[in-house]
Amino acid sequence: MPTTYLVTGGAGFIGVNFVRHLLSHSDADVVVLDRLTYAGRRESLAGLPAHRVRLVVGDICDVGLVDSLVTTADVVVHFAAESHNDNSLHDPTPFVQTNLVGTFTLLEAVRRHGVRYHHVSTDEVYGDLELDDPEKFCETTPYNPSSPYSSTKAGSDLLVRAWVRSFGVQATISNCSNNYGPFQHVEKFIPRQITNVIDGQRPKLYGAGLNVRDWIYVDDHNAAVLAIIERGTVGETYLIGANGEKDNKSVIEAILRLMGQPESAYEHVVDRPGHDMRYAIDASRLRTELGWAPQYTSFEDGLAATIDWYRANEQWWRPMKAATEAKYAKVGQ
Ligand code: NAD
Ligand code: DAU
Repeated sequence: MPTTYLVTGGAGFIGVNFVRHLLSHSDADVVVLDRLTYAGRRESLAGLPAHRVRLVVGDICDVGLVDSLVTTADVVVHFAAESHNDNSLHDPTPFVQTNLVGTFTLLEAVRRHGVRYHHVSTDEVYGDLELDDPEKFCETTPYNPSSPYSSTKAGSDLLVRAWVRSFGVQATISNCSNNYGPFQHVEKFIPRQITNVIDGQRPKLYGAGLNVRDWIYVDDHNAAVLAIIERGTVGETYLIGANGEKDNKSVIEAILRLMGQPESAYEHVVDRPGHDMRYAIDASRLRTELGWAPQYTSFEDGLAATIDWYRANEQWWRPMKAATEAKYAKVGQ
């Protein structure tokens, strides 16, 4: 019998790329549980084999639904979340509900039914680093989240750790750095700037743009998640990152260059309140223990492929663009 994966948030950016990765790297069947919020798109799953992928539209906070789906699964991979920092600053309510109550609901179901669980989380739980800090985040870095988003993700990680220790839940956790690639919502930094350039608008840089993010191509993240599920030690946390540190100004300049525009053709906009300065991941444990290594080692090549994808898939992102820009315009971003 093929393994059945329950993938929460499988109609979102990383989740849909994970579903595609799983289908091409295993004979697994997939049930996607996704509420199809503003960030989840049925269209992202279009064309996938119906005999292997089933979409259930529903909420991870729905105890009965989650229970019934977990009983049919061999593995639960939990991607569903409210994922955008800027949104969490305007209304934290859904972040507390989905990221905390939703994770609690899943943990209780996997506890009842003894199902293997993988929890997808973020490097933002560790707070931020100074630009010149020689240390990077590692598995023992203390939690110190800054935003409503990152604090609810931190809380969800702690729930998982407690359910492992108190109830013996068979769980692993991964904390990954910033992803980029196809199917990412246009509210996020890289797709927002690519689609701005396509629309003849200038890219928007928060503040001075010195903030550093540690970029990883989404397929490399998902290959690591699969490696952790297949070969990781239950109860452990693994950090995922590909040594991709870049400041935001350099990323915008690279996008403009690759899209045939002058590197200076962007504008500075209002900074994000509480803006984390720098994230950087030390993924040694993942590399040495599980033999994972990123395949997309050139950021410029990954960025060029991502630009090509947004150019070729305007019908996918166009319906979200105007509303997203209108929301940013209200706060001067
Ligand atoms: P996303 O916002 O693109 O997708 C989230 C998905 O979850 C959407 O399909 C949405 O409809 C669904 N969802 C939201 N609330 C739900 C609910 N209550 N019930 C069911 N489904 C719900 O997010 P993403 O960027 O793909 O991130 C996926 C996961 O990876 C998140 O847990 C995030 O914290 C984590 N992560 C993201 C990054 C990144 O760079 N994007 C990096 C590290 C970790
Ligand atoms: O580090 C992992 C995290 O990466 C994930 O947990 C989050 O889900 C994901 O959204 C991402 O968070 P960031 O806040 O780092 O990503 P975002 O794409 O929103 O912004 C990246 C950087 O770019 C950040 O420093 C803010 C800046 N920015 C963002 C936007 C949207 C701009 O300068 N201009 C913009 O228009």
